[in-house]
Amino acid sequence: MNIIKVKNYEEMSRVAADIIAETIKAHPTGVLGLATGSTPIGTYQNLVNMYRDGKLDFSGLRTVNLDEYRGLPRENDQSYYYFMHKNLFDSVNLKKDASNLPDGSNPDADAECVRYEKLVESLGYADLQLLGIGRNGHIGFNEPADVFEVNTHCVKLTQSTIDANKRFFASEADVPREAYTMGIGTIMKARKVLILASGKDKAWAVKNSFFGPVTPNVPASILQFHQDVVVVADEDAMSEV
Ligand code: F6R
Repeated sequence: MNIIKVKNYEEMSRVAADIIAETIKAHPTGVLGLATGSTPIGTYQNLVNMYRDGKLDFSGLRTVNLDEYRGLPRENDQSYYYFMHKNLFDSVNLKKDASNLPDGSNPDADAECVRYEKLVESLGYADLQLLGIGRNGHIGFNEPADVFEVNTHCVKLTQSTIDANKRFFASEADVPREAYTMGIGTIMKARKVLILASGKDKAWAVKNSFFGPVTPNVPASILQFHQDVVVVADEDAMSEV
C-alpha cells in the first residue's frame, strides 16, 4: 500500500489526476473504474483540463462506475449517471456507449445486479478503480457489515450515509434508501486501486481502514490485501494517523 500525504484537496486532485493519466496512457483502450461524490470532482476537473490541453485521449476507453441510487432515473440531477456526465463524460472525448453504470431505474434488483456484475466481468474488470471513502469506511455503497459482500448487490443505505448525502437533496426524505453497488470482490479485481480522502471528517475512516485490522466493519480495510493500492490523503484526512 502506497500512502501519499498531500497538503489539501487541490493537491490531492492534481496527484490523483496524474496517476489516472498515467494509467490511461499505459492502457489507452483499457477500463477505468470511476466514483462519484465530492471527493473526485477536482480530479475530474484536472482530467478535463488535460484533455483540453491535448494531453489525454479518452476515445479508446471504457468506464465502469461503482454505484447508482436505486429508483432514480438517469435524468434526475442527483443520479450518478447525471453526475458523471456533468463532471466528466460530456467534457472529454469518451465514446457515447463507452460508459457504464448500474441502472437505477431497473426495479428488478436481482436482475440488475447480475447484469452489471456480468458486464464488468465481460470488460475484464478495471485497470484502475478510483474510490472515495465514506466517513464510516464505506467504499462504493459497501457499508459496514458482518461480512464482505462479493458481487454487485442492492444495499440499504445506513443513516450515516443518508445524513452525509442529504446535502445534495431538497430534504432528507428525498434521499433514496437503496443503491446498487459493485461488491468488494468486484472492486478488488481491479488491477490498481486509487483511493482519495480529504478533510477532517475522513480522519477516522483513514486511520481505521489503513492502520487497523482488516474487518467488514470497516469495508475499506480490505484494500490492505490488494497488491496495488495508492491512497492519496490530505493533512486533515491523515490527522488521526
Ligand atoms: C461514490 C461512492 C461513495 C463515495 C463516498 C465518499 O460513487 O461510491 O463511496 O466515494 O461516500 O463521498 P464524498 O466524496 O462525497 O465524501
